Order: sequence, then structure tokens, then C-alpha cells
Amino acid sequence: MGLSGKLALVTGGGRGIGRAVCQILSRENAQVIVTDLNLDNCNQTLQSLSQLSHLAVQSDVSSSNSVKLCFEQILDKYKRAPDIIVNSAGITKDGFLLRMKEQDFDQVIDVNLKGTFLVTQTGAGLMKDQGIQGSIVNIASIVGKTGNIGQANYTASKAGVIGFTKTAAKELGKFGIRVNAVLPGFIQTAMTDAVPDKVKEKIVAEIPLGHLGQPEDIAYTCLFLASSRSKYITGASIEVAGGLGV
Ligand SMILES: NC(=O)c1ccc[n+]([C@@H]2O[C@H](COP(=O)([O-])OP(=O)(O)OC[C@H]3O[C@@H](n4cnc5c(N)ncnc54)[C@H](O)[C@@H]3O)[C@@H](O)[C@H]2O)c1
Repeated sequence: MGLSGKLALVTGGGRGIGRAVCQILSRENAQVIVTDLNLDNCNQTLQSLSQLSHLAVQSDVSSSNSVKLCFEQILDKYKRAPDIIVNSAGITKDGFLLRMKEQDFDQVIDVNLKGTFLVTQTGAGLMKDQGIQGSIVNIASIVGKTGNIGQANYTASKAGVIGFTKTAAKELGKFGIRVNAVLPGFIQTAMTDAVPDKVKEKIVAEIPLGHLGQPEDIAYTCLFLASSRSKYITGASIEVAGGLGV
């Protein structure tokens, strides 16, 4: 699935799933733009990549101004839009619905859903203007399909990403731009390290494959969706969840 000559932008690339996506795309010879709120983590990801001309950009996906500045840096360096965008930046602010603070609801929607919208809107606009038949991959979540106790904000944001992906696929198909969602189950990253062990044991008991996934499991699916091997797939939601939520 070689990606020679392809330029890929990965949000949330500073750690976890986003970092694994950067590593696997770069192993297939894509040039990678690693963006994250945390620039030190972006640079650490960058150091783990092969010696192509990659770029680290500090960017907040929930801010239209920050997203605009990020694309300006990309155009400045590469003189072109990315061919591949993977929207992996995401946060949780868990709490029971009846006690959830408005601010915690808004923040999660702003990063996970609005962030995906802002990056896709700007990136796809540039792809269209430059005649690039690109691929956009949005990291949603299996709980966007099933719901999950304590995650009213997060599940709503991820269900939103699934719906957004379908609309984007319908609108952008005529430009040859594909948009798909990946729905991870429980993947071993800092995000799930925060889940108490007892809760994790309960979750594992419900996973047909009997264990948590690894960031690479998601990254390989992103690689497939980014590559021409998936050239007739758009608007899809691909579950990578060990059977959870089927
Ligand atoms: N880990 C899981 O089990 C799991 C399951 C389903 C979906 N997901 C989704 O996968 C994606 C990656 O999750 P992860 O497990 O790697 O989490 P993570 O917390 O390890 O990584 C998320 C990254 O996003 C960055 N980020 C947060 N807010 C940002 C912002 N406003 N702008 C730019 N970057 C920002 C963080 O700095 C961090 O580097 C998220 O969208 C998450 O919701 C994860």
C-alpha cells in the first residue's frame, strides 16, 4: 500500500492512535504533517518517523483561526494541500448526564465534532481547488453507535462524526474526495489508561476477542482507507473493536 509522493495531515498526532497513524503512513513513504495541541509530543512523534521531510505543527482543532494558521504553514512548506487527512484529535470529559457541566459538554463537542468539521472543511476545500482526489479519515468511536454510561458528551460527539462523515462523503464524492469513519473499540492509550481497572475488566469481558486493541490496529485501517486499495469506499463506518458493539 505504498504512499510515495503522498502528503498526509494527522491531527492528534502527538500520541496514542494519532502517533501510530503517523508512523504507519510514514513507513509507507508518505510525508507526514504531525499536528497536536502539544508541540513537544508532535516533535517526539516526528523523531520516530523515517527521514522524509515531515513537519510538526502546534494546532488546536477546535479553533478556526488555529486551523487556518496550520494550513498556512502546510502551504508555505509543501506548496500544496495534503492528499490524506486523519482526524484523530479527541478528548473525553466523562460524567453522568444528570451532573454533567455545560462546559464539559461544550468542550468535548468543540474538539471532537467541530474540530473534525473545521479541519475537513479547510482541507477538502484546498483539495478541491487543487484537483487532489484525497482521502479523509475521521476517528469516531464504537460508543458513538452504542452509547456509553458516563459519556453523554463524548458519544454525542462521535455519533455526530459518523453523520458528518456520511454527509461529507455525499457532498465531496463528485470531486473524487473520499471520507470515511473508523470506529475504534477500547484501544490501549493514555485515554483508556484513565479508566479504572475494575471498569476495564468489565469492558474486556464484553469484547468477543477478549482483549483491548492496540493503536496499530486502528492505524492499519487508516492506512487502508488512505490508500488506493479502498478507492471505491466512501461514507463508510468501519468498526475496529474486537467485536464490541456488533
Ligand atoms: N483509545 C480508545 O480506546 C479510543 C476509542 C475510540 C475512539 N478513540 C478516539 O481516537 C482518537 C485518538 O485517541 P487516543 O486514544 O489516541 O487519545 P490520546 O489522548 O492518547 O490522544 C489524543 C491526542 O489529541 C490531542 N488533542 C486533544 N485536544 C486537541 C485539540 N483541541 N487540538 C489538537 N489536538 C488535540 C491530545 O493532545 C492528544 O495528543 C480520539 O478521537 C478518540 O476519541 C479512542
